[in-house]
Amino acid sequence: MALIDKHEILEKNVTLLFLASFAVVTVGGIVEIVPLFYLENTIEKVEGMRPYSPLELAGRNIYVREGCYVCHSQMIRPFRDEVERYGHYSLAAESMYDHPFQWGSKRTGPDLARVGGRYSNEWHVEHLKDPQSVVPESVMPSYEFLANTELKIENVSGHLIANRRVGVPYTDEMVENAEADLMAQADPEADWSGIEERYPKAVLGDFDGNPTKVTEMDALVAYLQMLGTLVDFSVYEPEENYR
Ligand code: HEC
Repeated sequence: MALIDKHEILEKNVTLLFLASFAVVTVGGIVEIVPLFYLENTIEKVEGMRPYSPLELAGRNIYVREGCYVCHSQMIRPFRDEVERYGHYSLAAESMYDHPFQWGSKRTGPDLARVGGRYSNEWHVEHLKDPQSVVPESVMPSYEFLANTELKIENVSGHLIANRRVGVPYTDEMVENAEADLMAQADPEADWSGIEERYPKAVLGDFDGNPTKVTEMDALVAYLQMLGTLVDFSVYEPEENYR
């Protein structure tokens, strides 16, 4: 009885109730959040992850601008049906250089976290221009204009620097070569040695079938072809506490 009486004091005094609830939520929050800052293993590092090449980064911006995330997720959940359909479940480290991440929560279309290498460049271009021409029942809209829109290449290095400010490890060398790397990745005649060294596994070559200019289509397909290909899952072993 006594306890109920005491609780009545709280329940009948709005200010006191608010202060007491606030104290409870604060303590709960601190207990949950503070340890995350000290756990070294919050994000398991994984071999193969690297910052996006300038062309991939430009493609990623187009992906975000066009709202592809409204219909596509980029996160394979650790369930058997998903893993069988899409491949190895996504690791937190695979989106560590995404600002903002593209996990998404709506799948009108399939998950794209590992779409890289699944189709040819030609397939992607055809599909983006006219989805129904390759998948007749598709409800995906056409993005044909991307192939006719030259990619704006202003201040590419500034973009890398902005990402560096939020923790993406772009080196000075990457920043200095940003514009040249962007052009070279989509140019079949270019010397690719620098890009291959700076951005291992980047897909190189003309993407949109028009080698004379770098279009938004080139950038978007370069980005799609890289998705999920950086970590080599044939040799990947989760750390002990993640098994
Ligand atoms: C209105 C929803 C919608 C939007 C917006 C959308 N898609 Fe799709 N997408 C789909 C559907 C549905 C499919 C499955 C049918 C098909 O392949 O066309 C699909 C399929 C795909 C596939 C093939 C995936 C696979 O594994 O077969 C790719 C790649 C893709 N979309 C990329 C994009 C990109 C890039 C954008 C943004 C420029 C985009 N989509 C915007 C609905 C959408």
